[in-house]
Amino acid sequence: SNMSGTKAFNVYITRSDMPESGVNLLRNKCNVKVWQEPSPVPREEFLKAVYGINGIFCSLTDTIDKELLDAAGPSLKVVATISVGHDHIDVPECKKRGIKIGYTPNVLTDATAELTLALLLSTSRRLPEAQHEAKTGGWVSWAPTWMTGPGLAGSTVGIVGFGRIAQAVARRVKAFNTSQILYFNRSKRPEADEIGAIKVEFDELLVKSDFVICCAALVPATKEIFNKAAFDKMKNTAIFINTSRGGTVDQNALIEALKTGNIRAAGLDVTTPEPLPLDSPLFKLKNCVILPHIGSASIETRNIMSELTANNILAALSNSEMPAEL
Ligand code: DGY
Repeated sequence: SNMSGTKAFNVYITRSDMPESGVNLLRNKCNVKVWQEPSPVPREEFLKAVYGINGIFCSLTDTIDKELLDAAGPSLKVVATISVGHDHIDVPECKKRGIKIGYTPNVLTDATAELTLALLLSTSRRLPEAQHEAKTGGWVSWAPTWMTGPGLAGSTVGIVGFGRIAQAVARRVKAFNTSQILYFNRSKRPEADEIGAIKVEFDELLVKSDFVICCAALVPATKEIFNKAAFDKMKNTAIFINTSRGGTVDQNALIEALKTGNIRAAGLDVTTPEPLPLDSPLFKLKNCVILPHIGSASIETRNIMSELTANNILAALSNSEMPAEL
């Protein structure tokens, strides 16, 4: 409990279901105001609620732009997001105003890499489709060519982006006896040598890879890099996996490529928009596996992400070094 009876800082949390471990850290030291529902706070409500607030604990479903910062006013010192991605935050605008930004790198790398491998194998070996057949009478007998898909062993895997998560994916992929790991990234990454990943141009990666995995942050340079031209360059047998942001993909071009057999299959943890509307053609395609943005959703990871987000806010408000400042 708070002995003094007054707490110096006001913090707004944008959802009622943020993992408690982090929320409790804040409750000890701040006046905490929480959006009452386990769903994203409506924009109008968000704009009203942040007036006079010192810190905002948000997620990737909350847009932090000029309008929101204006609505908060000069009291706002820190915006901390429970995500490593920060494409929902106008970073230059925050910097200009001296508002600190907290995010959650490192702590979700393993969880997201695990999910990326799970999605890759689910897509290549057709797990959702196979389970559906098993449950609905399609499993008539063992059959030599039924439900077959390409193996990872001996394949070439291309990873787009080569940051923390991409590297963790590469290390895991290697354990499946792949023949080659290629990556495309703006700069050469020193870790690549030890992993045994080879830097190539984007087009070369598309042409040579059996599996193309997108692990690139969404920035202007990566917006819709997976467009029609990119899918055209991929092998007809290629499998495309995306666990970064839906915005890296021209989704209509992907739908066409999956329909026409221009690529074999896709596994997506991220889409445009999110949630993906139920009438999206993607849901009708057997060769597309879709997950509802659960890359970092391991129990331990989500708790640690919440704590890190809270600690980013507490550090910024007490003018000490933030554990993870952007
Ligand atoms: C992130 O951290 O950016 C993920 O998309 C959610 O964990």
